[in-house]
Amino acid sequence: MSNKLAKMFRSISLALAAVDVMLFNLSGSALMWMTTSLMPARLLLTPLDFLPPPPQDESPMMIAIAATKSVFVCLKFIRKCVTLFCKKPPNLSELNSIRKCGFLRSLINFETEMPQEVTPYQDEARSKKEQVEQMFDNIAHRYDFLNRLLSLGIDRSWRKRAVRFISEIQPRKILDVATGTGDFAFEALSLKPEKIIGYDISEGMLSYGRKKALESNTAHIVEFIKGDSEKMFFDDNSFDAVTVGFGVRNFEYLEEGLKEIHRVLRPGGRLVILEVSLPHNGLVRFFYDIYFSFILPTVGRLFSRDVRAYSYLPESVRAFPQGHAFNHILANVGFKNVEWTPLTLGTCAMYAAEK
Ligand SMILES: C[S@@+](CC[C@H](N)C(=O)[O-])C[C@H]1O[C@@H](n2cnc3c(N)ncnc32)[C@H](O)[C@@H]1O
Repeated sequence: MSNKLAKMFRSISLALAAVDVMLFNLSGSALMWMTTSLMPARLLLTPLDFLPPPPQDESPMMIAIAATKSVFVCLKFIRKCVTLFCKKPPNLSELNSIRKCGFLRSLINFETEMPQEVTPYQDEARSKKEQVEQMFDNIAHRYDFLNRLLSLGIDRSWRKRAVRFISEIQPRKILDVATGTGDFAFEALSLKPEKIIGYDISEGMLSYGRKKALESNTAHIVEFIKGDSEKMFFDDNSFDAVTVGFGVRNFEYLEEGLKEIHRVLRPGGRLVILEVSLPHNGLVRFFYDIYFSFILPTVGRLFSRDVRAYSYLPESVRAFPQGHAFNHILANVGFKNVEWTPLTLGTCAMYAAEK
């Protein structure tokens, strides 16, 4: 009996997932309100999705755990629903708070701009871009060291994996957007291209990149140029591949930046983006949250000259569209064959696409 019940719940949850995918694919501004109004019903039913697959051994313990968990999640969703639907239409921060609930993430990520409040110094007198530039200028001297320390060196393997994706088209000209100190650009040297341009808004970060290029005798291939990714001066279709490592989250106008990348990439060219992401698995997420909310900001504060930089990091990651939601944005600006791969327990996301 309990097995039948679990199977039934599972079928309902699969049907809901199918509706989800359908609505997600259809969703655009015209459908936003329709899908939003369907949310209360969907939110109530969503907990079913959290049920594990039907237990093979009909273990009463498993059923009890699943049932308790779904009641708990259900209560959480009802509370969020009530808060949200007291006011209409929902604003972005309300959508964001629901977004954190997990399963509906893809459906409610309609907004493509970063919420205004997530800026490095929360200084209303200056644009996000100005604040981002200043923050990276401040931490440039410690950036590479902290990157290695805080990612335990895993960031290198993420870049290697991303470079493997663009290697398939043997790119001759590569643009590394938001290059920082150039780690992605240097990783792409393994493809033996003619030219790699490292492009960034922070002169402080670029100066370390140039130094590394001189030290490694690669300055004739890797060139560092200062500029804003949301307004690039390169010709249309001028690069075979574009890489972006942990940069898109910092754009002031996400879509503008992505449109510019699309413009400068040649038809058939490849884009690969790496971005910090939030693990979906509850247990991993629990430890990750502790690391992300306490350890990382404390260590960052200790070693960099900037008290805000490593608190801005988790804040901006939490507010950034992830997974399918970001794929959807990439597709909207014109990219094809958009794919998303979670790396290292979902702590990093690799987005791959073609023009
Ligand atoms: C976290 S660092 C990433 C550096 C490097 N790509 C890596 O993989 O380590 C983000 C970089 O994005 C740059 N950035 C942010 N917004 C930008 C923009 N609009 N145009 C160009 N660079 C930007 C920052 O200056 C910073 O150097």
